[in-house]
Amino acid sequence: MSERGKTKFQIDLRRHLRERNVAPDLVHLICEIAEASKYIINSIRTGDLGVAGTSNLYGEQQLALDVLADRILTKRLQHSGVVGNVLSEEADDIICVSNNCNGLYSVAFDPLDGSSIVNVNLAVGTIVSIFGGCNLLRPGREQVAAMYILYGPRTTLMYSTGEGVHEFGMNQLMEYTLLQENITIDQQANLYSPGGLRNLFTPAIEEYVQKLEEKGCKLRYSGGFVPDINQVLIKGKGVFLYPHLQGKPNGKLRLSFELNPMAFLVEQAGGAASDGHGPILDRVPEGKDDRAPIFIGCKEDVAMAEDIIRRYEE
Ligand code: AHG
Ligand code: MN
Ligand code: MN
Repeated sequence: MSERGKTKFQIDLRRHLRERNVAPDLVHLICEIAEASKYIINSIRTGDLGVAGTSNLYGEQQLALDVLADRILTKRLQHSGVVGNVLSEEADDIICVSNNCNGLYSVAFDPLDGSSIVNVNLAVGTIVSIFGGCNLLRPGREQVAAMYILYGPRTTLMYSTGEGVHEFGMNQLMEYTLLQENITIDQQANLYSPGGLRNLFTPAIEEYVQKLEEKGCKLRYSGGFVPDINQVLIKGKGVFLYPHLQGKPNGKLRLSFELNPMAFLVEQAGGAASDGHGPILDRVPEGKDDRAPIFIGCKEDVAMAEDIIRRYEE
């Protein structure tokens, strides 16, 4: 496989999954999610950017697009024939699709991440976490797959089933074809994406950001989790943080459908993802709306965050 985009021939998503001996029902599930993304793309390009007049269980106002994207993906999963339970960022409860989950998968997803920046035409995405069986509230390390679709100037899809991380691009026929496989991240970052209000940073986070700046890291923050993580994977360098803040010990991002899938992908690429004390993937969820601080990207920079936080807690 040559570098990005110069494949000898177009390998599509389904073929790539089959050639890596992914279980047929998981191939079907991942391809169904990819198919649903085409309708989400259409709703972003042409849809109503207004508010839906409802809010999700986080009390966040839902945009019409949030609700539409949630409906598109939920329906597709319900009719896939391989799904047991569904947990969406936009829904109040876990949706039980089948009582008998043997051989089925359960899916947690953020149908439209970054919906607050879609009306200023910045890149947004769909984030998906897949477990085997019924139980979705398990440590992220037990995921069998994770993926995201990035709706940017180009539409790209990133997935891992535990055998490396692979990127696909949407072609003019709206097919996802392989751009690069087995993506890896370096040990050291040269860019950083600091989420959260700076005036709420703790002294430990202030020192961490200062250390990143001192080593020459550039600040790159779009406000969209998917493009900001995609930047780390494609450049192979970088660290994203949405830390604990004064008054917000768990930061902002949600464990089930934002942090677990991204942590799975980044660890598969040789990076790390921590809540500031230990791996995100080892956190045992207490509920479906758990939030956690996140430091994710180059291993050495994630370790540096843990070291500084530990020192301030001694
Ligand atoms: P969502 O649109 O699903 O609510 O997620 C938005 C998240 C994530 O995309 C991003 O990293 C973070 O919110 C940005 O938060 P701030 O606006 O506080 O920076
Ligand atoms: Mn989100
Ligand atoms: Mn969202």
